[in-house]
Amino acid sequence: MATDVHRPVNHQVTEEPTAEASTAEEPKRDASKAEAPRPAQAVRVEGLTRSFDGRAVIDDLRLDVRAGEFVALLGRSGCGKSTLLRILAGLDRDIEGTVLVPRRKAVAFQAPRLMPWKKVWRNVLLGLPGKPARAVADQALGEVGLSHRTDAWPKTLSGGEAQRASLARALVREPDLLLLDEPFGALDALTRIKAQRLVGELWQRRGCAVLLVTHDVEEAVLLADRVLVMDEGVIAHEQAIDLDRPRDITDPRFAEIRGQLLERLGVDTAAEAA
Ligand SMILES: Nc1ncnc2c1ncn2[C@@H]1O[C@H](COP(=O)(O)OP(=O)(O)O)[C@@H](O)[C@H]1O
Ligand SMILES: [Mg+2]
Repeated sequence: MATDVHRPVNHQVTEEPTAEASTAEEPKRDASKAEAPRPAQAVRVEGLTRSFDGRAVIDDLRLDVRAGEFVALLGRSGCGKSTLLRILAGLDRDIEGTVLVPRRKAVAFQAPRLMPWKKVWRNVLLGLPGKPARAVADQALGEVGLSHRTDAWPKTLSGGEAQRASLARALVREPDLLLLDEPFGALDALTRIKAQRLVGELWQRRGCAVLLVTHDVEEAVLLADRVLVMDEGVIAHEQAIDLDRPRDITDPRFAEIRGQLLERLGVDTAAEAA
């Protein structure tokens, strides 16, 4: 059943969030006609349910993400993380509940999904409305350190480069919400560390909200303001990460938070250390 609840929030950010921003009043049908900005919030999800063949994978889920907040989403394989991300991206509207997201949003998946018959810069502009100038792609490719590869064919890129191109494609949309589904999952360890650092820098520069789906607890603690654990169709646990940035994985508090989250995920940390 297609629903009419997938509407954009008004993503204008005011200097001082008004009290109205935090009230759970019924959202306006057309955000562009909303009287007051609903600042401070990038995502608002309430009572979200998504079923496949009668089985609720997402079951009355609630989620709020502040504007500019970096949130990481953990959870065992098959618990519904990608399903939730696809709903937030507007790729799956067969839902019940309320889902409010910014108009400007972008998504990057584990597979970079580049069109092999288009050069890198054309891939970056793919799907953008109007006739965007090449300079738009070049600028984004510069931001992800790919200035030297703008004219390359996708098949000549390394895995890390392809993932950077995919990030550039997300950035040209100037998103207020960046959705990342295990974007580093297929990268080797060193490339992964570089890509994580890049995402952290891009987030700080752009100031957009990020929802990063990952199975890597360390990555979540390294990057996020808040880490969520999904289980049984809901956000079963959340933890604010109040460590200074840049974060130091050798910091004992880092290890402590990591251990707590692993425990939440049902990983025996004592066995892991052994
Ligand atoms: N299009 C679909 N049709 C049927 N079942 C699906 C579909 N998409 C996802 N699922 C099921 O929903 C559950 C959650 O999947 P997914 O969101 O991909 O999990 P995760 O990303 O957490 O590993 C899985 O059991 C998966 O098989
Ligand atoms: Mg997934």
